[in-house]
Amino acid sequence: MKRRHVIPATAVALHAAVNAQTADTWRLSVGSCANQKIAQPIWQTILADRPDLHIFGGDNVYASDQPWSLAQLQDAYALAAKQTSMAQLMRSVPYMAMWDDHDYGMNDGGVEFAGKQAAKQALQDFFKFPASHATRSRDGLYDAQIIGTGERRIQIILLDTRWHRSPMARPLIPGLPGQERYIPDPSPEKTMLGEAQWQWLEAQLNMPAQIRLIYSGIQVLAEGHGWERWGNLPRERQRLIDTIARTKAQGVILLSGDRHIGAMYREASGAPYPLWEMTSSGLTHAWANASEAGPNRVSDLVRVNHYGLVDVNWAKNEVQLQLKDTQGRSLQTTTIPMKDLRA
Ligand SMILES: [Fe+2]
Repeated sequence: MKRRHVIPATAVALHAAVNAQTADTWRLSVGSCANQKIAQPIWQTILADRPDLHIFGGDNVYASDQPWSLAQLQDAYALAAKQTSMAQLMRSVPYMAMWDDHDYGMNDGGVEFAGKQAAKQALQDFFKFPASHATRSRDGLYDAQIIGTGERRIQIILLDTRWHRSPMARPLIPGLPGQERYIPDPSPEKTMLGEAQWQWLEAQLNMPAQIRLIYSGIQVLAEGHGWERWGNLPRERQRLIDTIARTKAQGVILLSGDRHIGAMYREASGAPYPLWEMTSSGLTHAWANASEAGPNRVSDLVRVNHYGLVDVNWAKNEVQLQLKDTQGRSLQTTTIPMKDLRA
């Protein structure tokens, strides 16, 4: 049985680092889209899997009715605080947190959302970010940490795809397959991350690490739909792949949420090595009749409530991606040799 400590939230990063240095295996849990008004038994299942780190992947609460008010968001967090299993996870598992549109405060929102400063403050307070936390002194919530040392370093990067994100182009006729709400817009002035976050990301990717888990609420590799995805800003999507190539960053695995579906994606063309992405979305409500074309998708769609696990196994030199349902049953599993995650 793995060691398990109950630790104060302010010590979570340190705890994670100690764990990774001493173990042959390291486990991340990740999930998104948890409606505070719905029962959340899935946290007990996640706790039973004993993750070393958890990523709250956005839509951690739902508070995006317009006109938006901070009171609406504070009420949502107050209700979420009563989810006892989620609170138990926050007390006992190191975690990082990123928002998506519904806890940002505006459905599909981006740079234009006027309430983002107040919403950021509310998230940082709910998740007990210490006063010294890096996000408190810069725009947005992007953040990173490296867990472990030497040849066993795991880098966790959370991208903020809301704070600076330019408006996306809409089709003349919405609702058609592949252009349900948005269409690709190659305008060079449009951005997903904003320049400061791009520079920060490049610096992060230049740090030594064997495995890098990059979380983006918005899907990166998925191409078969017209909802939010990096492909709506194709120059930015390519810039991300080019940045991974230019920095010679090895070990990149993409993680995402937002969609109320789960799936595995893989893209080999144009990348320095095949890139993998695991989308896990729908802790409390999944899209039961989702259907979409699957360029780059290498699994069936998961249409029930679920969460994701990333298991790094240093002894076997492999990484396993897995989606599991509320009862802890495995729905999708992909095992990637670490040697396949380098050019
Ligand atoms: Fe959601």
